[in-house]
Amino acid sequence: MQIIKNILPMQEAAAKAKRKGKTIGFVPTMGALHEGHASLLKQCRKDNDISVLSIFVNPKQFGPQEDFANYPREEKKDCLLAKKEKVDIIFYPSMKAMYAEGYLTYIDVESLNSKLCGQFRPGHFKGVATIVGKLLNIVSPDILYLGQKDAQQCVVLQKMITDLNWPVKVKVMPTVREPDGLAMSSRNKYLTVQERLQAPILYKALLQAKKAVTQGERDATKIRYLIETLIRENSASHIDYVECVDSNTLLPLKTLSGKVLIAIAVKFGQARLIDNIVLNIS
Ligand code: PAF
Repeated sequence: MQIIKNILPMQEAAAKAKRKGKTIGFVPTMGALHEGHASLLKQCRKDNDISVLSIFVNPKQFGPQEDFANYPREEKKDCLLAKKEKVDIIFYPSMKAMYAEGYLTYIDVESLNSKLCGQFRPGHFKGVATIVGKLLNIVSPDILYLGQKDAQQCVVLQKMITDLNWPVKVKVMPTVREPDGLAMSSRNKYLTVQERLQAPILYKALLQAKKAVTQGERDATKIRYLIETLIRENSASHIDYVECVDSNTLLPLKTLSGKVLIAIAVKFGQARLIDNIVLNIS
């Protein structure tokens, strides 16, 4: 496993692989790797000749009041997980390499960026699109691997790739969960013992919503109310949003039909958790 810390050697390694006709799979991360990342890396390894993992805590996607300074940084542990998953290259750039002094250029996927989490985290998706755009130019992957837990991120990045004609396929992998249903996330580390006990209500509430839809419910207001009530009654958390939206446009639905994304964001103390399910409704 090679660790590359500068942009030029990463671009050269990618170009060399391409010249040899090898395919490159790419998993972008901010480190603090867990089994969710491992599942992306496994698929990446399976599909491609070369698998590249990037680790970069991107300041441009954190708001001024958010957890950039405290975001877990676990270089040694991350390297062990990467090795176990047979990553070929870890791209580990410095802040200076990614955002040199006087940096000015951003990618803004208009309108999609301001929905769902975008209402609560202004500028977040502009930061995500910009860094992933830069990483795609550096790593030149054939396939980009993303996790379904970050549903809006997947929609925003797919749209960016389509609109800007990047020759990259996007593969979205299912959310990996703890045995009690809590979606794996680097931010679960912020949960207190009490909050950790309550947090599985998010997925339980989503499953109850799925059950209601299976039994015929199509009214989005009722589904949202069902989820909100379950979360309120079973935790001391703050709900940012519970929304039922079209899974491609992220536009809110009154009546559930087609491919529906039910997405939630809930704060438990220091931890802002997101989760979602996608339902195909005829
Ligand atoms: O999902 C993440 O960890 C980040 O948003 C990403 C895609 C690595 C961009 O910094």
